[in-house]
Amino acid sequence: MTEMLDSIASCPISAIHPMHPELLACPYTMNQRLIADAPVYQDPDSGIWFISRYDDVVAMSMDHGTFSSVMPFISNDAGRSAGNEEVAEVMSKGYPNVATMLTQDPPLQRRYRKFVDGTFSPKSLKALEPFIESTSNMLIDQFIDAGQCEFLSEFGVPLPLRVIAAQLGTPVSDLPLLRKWTQAFIANLSQQLDHDGQVQAAKDMLEFQLYFVEKMEQRRVQPEDDILSKVVNASIDGDKPLDNAECLSMLSQILVAGNETTSSALVEGILLLIRNPDQYELVRKDPSTEMISNLVEEILRVSSPSANMFRRTTKAVELHGVTIPENSVCFARFASANQDDSRFPDAMKFDITRPNLKEHVAFGKGVHHCLGAALSRREMNVGFKVIFERLANFRLIEPEVEPVFAPNALLHGLTGLQVGFDKIS
Ligand code: HEM
Repeated sequence: MTEMLDSIASCPISAIHPMHPELLACPYTMNQRLIADAPVYQDPDSGIWFISRYDDVVAMSMDHGTFSSVMPFISNDAGRSAGNEEVAEVMSKGYPNVATMLTQDPPLQRRYRKFVDGTFSPKSLKALEPFIESTSNMLIDQFIDAGQCEFLSEFGVPLPLRVIAAQLGTPVSDLPLLRKWTQAFIANLSQQLDHDGQVQAAKDMLEFQLYFVEKMEQRRVQPEDDILSKVVNASIDGDKPLDNAECLSMLSQILVAGNETTSSALVEGILLLIRNPDQYELVRKDPSTEMISNLVEEILRVSSPSANMFRRTTKAVELHGVTIPENSVCFARFASANQDDSRFPDAMKFDITRPNLKEHVAFGKGVHHCLGAALSRREMNVGFKVIFERLANFRLIEPEVEPVFAPNALLHGLTGLQVGFDKIS
């Protein structure tokens, strides 16, 4: 542990700079500190208010009237390109940004959700299961004989990417493009890009728009059984169908929200099993559907890939004796909430027998509760089932090297994981 991380447990609260890359990558001690001593903390650098306790994160997620999801600097073109003319120039060649589900408040948010609600129904997920299973097997086939793999790029990334590409109706040959665009949207959302990085992200997002508009036009003429056709052709309550800009916003959210998060949970899941051999042994001895489901929920709680999400106060809010002024940017800190000892005793312990493990808020709460939660759960449950059938005794290739997490303000995940294993079949 570095000196800086070491000092977090005892330094004065005001010395904590939560957006420091080291703390973004390794926030655990800071989270415990903020939960205990500063549940409402304003970052001295960015000015963002950090809300860290479980009950507060749930309450703010349920109160969308006070904590709005509309963020001008993300979904408004003028806000996004502020101070960067090259970005404005690139964006002028594409479609305007429209705030839809994740970046919108009810009633508009609910209207947009209606277009895709039911997409991941239990029936459609049951039908998808063989595809998830065969994709998991196909990926494992490619590295099993080597006895080792880089689990992120060889399983964690391609599984959800292939599933969402099939759902969207894009061909396998375009997977590298989908991956590139996902990363551009995430980088843009993280608000941590320099000038050139902003321009590159804008170019990639423009490429995404032009690609999908062409596909959308095809689906308007010839609908297929995919999300793309559903989004472009749906008309709810006699409303007019969504226009291109609205469809693009919805599709980008489905693509981005569905990829990186599930990858992170799958990969951190393997690391958690390696670090907690007693828990690994429990699933090894009983790889039943119920046990794997408990494992998946505890992985989601501990890894919380969607660590923080923006909210903006629509009025002044008093919380724990602190006044957050109107129009302040806050973080709903899902990962921190999931590490709150008052809800999850000994919260840092990875324990798949925890009685309340399903109470985690890794998928958020309230109107914005994750659209893809059931899909992601299915991918993880089927993915781990196949993993336990075919691979055993996961271990780190270089145990002395600490696995690295990316320093991202919104998404928390490993940058890679080199593992060895024994082949079962
Ligand atoms: C482990 C995987 C995942 C995690 C941890 C996760 C987490 C979250 C969280 C915390 C929210 C709420 C954000 C907020 O309150 O502001 C959310 C919303 C959302 N998620 Fe996920 N998600 C995952 C997978 C997926 C997948 C697979 C999809 C799509 C297929 C998806 C699509 C969405 C969308 C569209 C929203 C916005 C819903 C709305 O605002 O109405 N997510 N997700």
